[in-house]
Amino acid sequence: MSERKSFYITTPIYYPSGQLHIGNAYTTIASDVLARYKRLKGFDTFYLTGTDEHGQKIETKANELNQSPKEYVDMMAKGIKELWKTLEISNDAFIRTTDPKHKEVVGKIFEKLVAQGDIYLGDYAGWYSVSDEEFFTETQLAEVFKDKEGNIIGGVAPSGHEVEWVKEESYFFKMSKYADRLLEYYETHPSFIQPESRKKEMINNFIKPGLEDLAVSRTTFDWGISVPSNPKHVVYVWIDALTNYITGLGYDPDLGGFDNQPETFKKYWPADVQMVGKEIVRFHTIYWPILLMALDLPLPEQVFGHGWLLMKDGKMSKSKGNVVYPEKLVERYGVDAVRYYLMREVTFGSDGVFTPKDFVSRINYDLANDLGNLVNRTVAMINKYFDGKTPAYKGDITSFDEALRLQVLETVDDYEMDMSQMQFSSALKSVWKLISRTNKYIDETAPWVLAKDESKKEALESVMAHLSESLRITAILLQPILMHTSKAITEQLGFSDSDVAFEKVTVMKLDEGKTVVKKGTPIFPRLDVDEEAEIIESWMKQTSEDEGESEELDTFNPEETTLTSVKDKEIKYDVFDRMELKVAEIVAATKVENADKLLKFRLDANDEGGHRQILSGIAAFYPDPEELVGKKVVIVANLKPRKMRGEISQGMILSAEDTEGNLTVVEAPTHMPNGSIVA
Ligand code: MSP
Repeated sequence: MSERKSFYITTPIYYPSGQLHIGNAYTTIASDVLARYKRLKGFDTFYLTGTDEHGQKIETKANELNQSPKEYVDMMAKGIKELWKTLEISNDAFIRTTDPKHKEVVGKIFEKLVAQGDIYLGDYAGWYSVSDEEFFTETQLAEVFKDKEGNIIGGVAPSGHEVEWVKEESYFFKMSKYADRLLEYYETHPSFIQPESRKKEMINNFIKPGLEDLAVSRTTFDWGISVPSNPKHVVYVWIDALTNYITGLGYDPDLGGFDNQPETFKKYWPADVQMVGKEIVRFHTIYWPILLMALDLPLPEQVFGHGWLLMKDGKMSKSKGNVVYPEKLVERYGVDAVRYYLMREVTFGSDGVFTPKDFVSRINYDLANDLGNLVNRTVAMINKYFDGKTPAYKGDITSFDEALRLQVLETVDDYEMDMSQMQFSSALKSVWKLISRTNKYIDETAPWVLAKDESKKEALESVMAHLSESLRITAILLQPILMHTSKAITEQLGFSDSDVAFEKVTVMKLDEGKTVVKKGTPIFPRLDVDEEAEIIESWMKQTSEDEGESEELDTFNPEETTLTSVKDKEIKYDVFDRMELKVAEIVAATKVENADKLLKFRLDANDEGGHRQILSGIAAFYPDPEELVGKKVVIVANLKPRKMRGEISQGMILSAEDTEGNLTVVEAPTHMPNGSIVA
């Protein structure tokens, strides 16, 4: 038996510094499409993603929320894993840079490179942006601030974040030592960097001017992997982060070369495709291969630098009120709609612009109209004319049939070519060409006319058999991208799993009748484009309002922390359903200085990150807050954390209030474990 070829695909590991938006999800969805495609093509595929959890930004963020960095990243990584589940990402592993094994191996790698002279200790000074976690030279800054004498006293990084002057002892990686070998690799592996344009950028902007040694440690913050032999240094982001691609496959032990590595590693490494956003191509095509050379490991086959998903007014940001979260879209339109839009709308490699109207139009016109209609009409006609059984057809081929068959061949060819080059949008375009051609075929052959004439029975059989066949091919081709749609077509047309096996993509087999389900349901509902676009826009505004709210927290009225403020308003069931109510035990209850109405609680809700803190405006009703300790209460657990009087509040404690304004916290049954869901 011949061994299956392996295929290893990675995404960048995500910074868990905020809720991920659809732009972030783009890389992961694209990689998922490729991973699924390769699996369908018979490759033994491994798809790795994860989180990049160290660094100053994370430390600062955790401090703001009064959490330890570990509590914070635990919470965020959980959220990211849930998002990938929602988007049905088929990753084979999820690596976190806080995983003990990863940390241990990074420490060993660092020491090995110090020992072999690739890393040395020196001093670093420069303009540093905390948000970008990157140093900039003066000329790289987008803006500089000067004092009266003309001395530069600050500036702004190209990302728009402010920079500060930082001088510190740092370890450096001697990048220049490997520059020639890197250029040679580029030359001998022409498809290493894709798209092609990004290669020129790397050579002309970074390698030709001379590679500078790279600072690879920091002493200004603690949240990172300590350098084992000099623990006041933490390994700076790139050696920590990039190595995930090999530690995730079990690389280490003893840090020998390729042959010393475990079987999983040897099976999948080097990666076949490493998918990255265009802003991190430099790290993946210069620093990463150099690091691998220093470790005496083979280099990846390809790094693909895709473009960004932008909004009309540029990058997504909460303050602009233009952020769209994938969960919301999935909840309302389904996972296939989101995946289809992202893969179809943006030419892979280039930037794309998201607009709510385009998003809804794509669903409406491409999915509900073109494809949905075709499925509906086909199923309805087979039901009507052949009592739900697709006719077998062995007769002659008409010119209409011939045109459709040619389109099938062309679509399959184009699709395969596009998918192998990661041109997902183009691949989908080809599938829609077939869908349009099939719709046209119905109009050309006019089955409703054929049905009226008994002598045309064979012609009608041919039409139904061809329609069914065309949808079978469509269902196959959509499998890596629109999993549910493909399944729905398969079920409605009565195909078996083996009928839609990927290798059956080119066979036009018309001589086997299939049972069709009696009544098909539309695979996508038709939408009112303007109305839906407005809904998405309102979500976008809502995110910026939420943000504004948390900035004004000091003036927040604690009275509102009881549910009474919403008592008269009707809400839809889905709003209620999204609320997570839990049993929590009060572990500590104290007054908040200079805030007469507020009490501060620590609660055990069996959260992964330990106890949570909630502030509640009920001090007037509990002059001795201690009496609440040990009580089990009901909390709103998924309320967005907010700050009050400089203190973080992670939820809300429910209380009951009578008409005279007397208030008591709602107590949960004492025998229910902490963290039990109240529904
Ligand atoms: N942690 C680093 C990667 C380390 S890899 C060893 C990082 N993380 S990130 O969370 O900022 O970005 C993760 C991915 O999301 C990157 O590929 C980035 O390009 C991508 N995107 C973030 N915003 C995006 C858009 N608006 N559009 C498309 N991709 C975007 O970088």
